[in-house]
Amino acid sequence: MTDTATLEALAIDIARDAGALARLRRDAGVAIAATKSALADIVTEADREVEALIRTRLAEARPEDGFLGEETGAERGTSGITWVVDPIDGTVNYAYGNPSYAVSIAAVRGEPAPETWEALAGAVFSPVSGELFHAALGGGAWLADRRLAVNPEVGPAGALIGTGFGYDPSTHAGDLAVVARVMPMARDLRRAGAASLDFAYVAAGRLDGYFERGLQPWDHAAGALLVTEAGGRIGRSQPDRSPRAPLFVAASPAIFSPLAEAAGLA
Ligand code: IPD
Repeated sequence: MTDTATLEALAIDIARDAGALARLRRDAGVAIAATKSALADIVTEADREVEALIRTRLAEARPEDGFLGEETGAERGTSGITWVVDPIDGTVNYAYGNPSYAVSIAAVRGEPAPETWEALAGAVFSPVSGELFHAALGGGAWLADRRLAVNPEVGPAGALIGTGFGYDPSTHAGDLAVVARVMPMARDLRRAGAASLDFAYVAAGRLDGYFERGLQPWDHAAGALLVTEAGGRIGRSQPDRSPRAPLFVAASPAIFSPLAEAAGLA
């Protein structure tokens, strides 16, 4: 039987050290190492170095677990647990010196596929603000030692909603059409540029809801657990129901259904 609190503590410990390294490298200046899926999709030397730190620390602490990282890919383990890691979520913010970036580390059980895995523990650390969001399955979501809960209701002015846009320019028109459908229920919209923090902010009641199409497993693994452990709901379009990348919706129960409908979650 896996102790989720132990996994959570390890995620917290490594996320803090990884975040400290990311911040150190940011202060020294950032070098773009390569572009990935699109010109706007970049990886910095720091992304690679921070992922290497996380991967090494996990391998030392739990050599039988698998690994799935944004920069170095997947390695199967034998324990049934996989660590899903985004070393620097919000890389474009990071490259621009915008403080909205985070280290995201999650432990999941089952196949390392988001449609079927069960998230057990996660940590999202924002090195510039020093905020550490963490959760374990059944243990609640926390900001440091403060228990988090999603907003119980939406005010008369409407919901504060976050979103994000994929790197592929051909998806932007569709994303903007969804924004147009969602706006009537929104008091305002936020696009902060780090999906893990968008999820964390829903958990903390700093957003009423968040939606984005095209998230990668490492963008949502820890954040989605934060939301459900804070009493929120997560919706995801099934890959077989749409040829496009899956749509994610994370929200307080007060607005989940209307937001999911407006965003196009079947
Ligand atoms: C990106 C950020 C961004 C979201 C993109 C993600 P990355 O992650 O979370 O907010 O809109 O979909 O890919 O590339 O900075 O790790």
